Amino acid sequence: MSAPVDPTTTTAWAELDRLRGEFTPDLRAWFDAEPSRVVDLTHDAADLHVDLSKSYLTPDVIAALIRLAEQTRVAERRDAMFAGEKINTTEDRAVLHTALRLPRDARLEVDGENVVEHVHAELDKMYAFADRVRSGEWTGSTGKRIETVINIGIGGSDLGPVMVYEALAPYRQEGLECRFVSNIDPADLAETTQGLDPETTLFIVASKTFTTLETMTNARMARAWLLDGLRAAGAITGDDQSAEAIAKHFVAVSTALDKVAEFGIDPDNAFGFWDWVGGRYSVDSVIGTSVCIAIGPERFAEFLGGFRAIDEHFLNEPVASNVPMIMGLLNVWYNNFLGAQSHAVLPYQQYLHRFPAYLQQLTMESNGKSVRWDATAVTTQTGEVFWGEPGTNGQHAFFQLLHQGTKLIPADFIGIANPAHALTDGETDAHDLLMGNFFAQTAALAWGKTEQEVRAEGTDESIIGARIFPGNRPTAAIMAAELSPRVVGELIALYEHITFTEGAVWGIDSFDQWGVELGKSLAKELAPAVAGDAAALDRADPSTRAQIEWYRRHRR
Ligand code: F6P
Repeated sequence: MSAPVDPTTTTAWAELDRLRGEFTPDLRAWFDAEPSRVVDLTHDAADLHVDLSKSYLTPDVIAALIRLAEQTRVAERRDAMFAGEKINTTEDRAVLHTALRLPRDARLEVDGENVVEHVHAELDKMYAFADRVRSGEWTGSTGKRIETVINIGIGGSDLGPVMVYEALAPYRQEGLECRFVSNIDPADLAETTQGLDPETTLFIVASKTFTTLETMTNARMARAWLLDGLRAAGAITGDDQSAEAIAKHFVAVSTALDKVAEFGIDPDNAFGFWDWVGGRYSVDSVIGTSVCIAIGPERFAEFLGGFRAIDEHFLNEPVASNVPMIMGLLNVWYNNFLGAQSHAVLPYQQYLHRFPAYLQQLTMESNGKSVRWDATAVTTQTGEVFWGEPGTNGQHAFFQLLHQGTKLIPADFIGIANPAHALTDGETDAHDLLMGNFFAQTAALAWGKTEQEVRAEGTDESIIGARIFPGNRPTAAIMAAELSPRVVGELIALYEHITFTEGAVWGIDSFDQWGVELGKSLAKELAPAVAGDAAALDRADPSTRAQIEWYRRHRR
């Protein structure tokens, strides 16, 4: 991979810097001056309808951002990613989550092998397994039908599956529930298995590396829970039967199939993927097995089709109407020139309640870096802080700060036209009320309320200041007709490519995550001290030692 271009040395950067100097956001004036602003800044990407007219894009800014993309060679890097080049330089890996959603008849060679064949072979295996669980053909060791599937995983091996499982709740098969365990806090496994019958429970151990402390610890505790439960029910008596029980109640998803076998899971019951799929980019691989069991293979294939539709848009659309690219560039404008530090994502859709958490890993693990892909220091701010909650809940919590605070926080509003449940209180359609709030909030943030308007309402002079809304708070509106499997795939791919675009401009490797390693190895090193080893405790720094001593004094 060639050296990254330093974005700050480009003429486009200089132009954006100049524009920032004279930049005073004035949405009212822009709308007056640009009669076609809404049309110009609204784009359809597959099933997503994206309105950026209330954002901080002006014709000059757009032109400079497009030049920035050209001068930092974003499209070249995108093409290199899709072609399977090893753009993850610090791990010497290709980055091919986009190959996970290629159609069966596509070809993509990596190291002389057509990876599409392998992708579909694993998908087919997962689909067949999902069908067997859904139909009841796959049973637990005592012949009972599986009623609960527990996915054990963390990070990308949890957040994607749980987010999509929640998002696609209306598509789930009745009588088959999925639960998710991620935290090493034993409360997680204890609460998740609460009330379950081991005979009807299936565990999926999902771990790319099959070494992650949390997942392996939880998997071992789950194995003990299963065997203890089956023993107590008289369903197993000897060791042979334990192995048989594990084979019927444990499957695995991993790139490390040798380690899966060491754990005692039959490799026939393991679904594989490859090191060129990053954990946070893996929900569309067999890491999505729990989702596939819940919604069925046909729906899962539609989900993959959604990703693919946005991949094609990202690959083929000119920059000006390329939604992920323009949104990624817009985020660079907010971050590097206008001082935004964080980005709110506000799904007006309860089913997407885990989407902000999912995006936190996607964006922050990808772009929270201080060095570039050639290990030299970054030359700009990187890594936006993503956060959010579903609407309308957020309105009653943190919207105060969005409307009247002193910080610039661009916000993406996500809205769906058709509800899964058409409930009313007899008079009003609740979904219309939800979306009414969506439209009202983006309008209120944009237009605000002037001093004159507040005064005209007869407001007491002493509180006029408190009641002014400055407006000019930028938002993007992302809408779709319904929250189908395809649309969920599209939403994920949209943010994958937004994240990619930002990383490409900054010159960083958005696909490694070395920053998580130090804490992991220190936790291992400190484990003996926490367990009471005095020599290990002595090796700890004074502050950490004092904390551990306090902990041990209070631990019953
Ligand atoms: O610690 C971070 C991380 O490596 C993530 O990138 C990954 O999604 C998560 O841990 C889980 O890793 P694995 O799937 O290998 O268990």
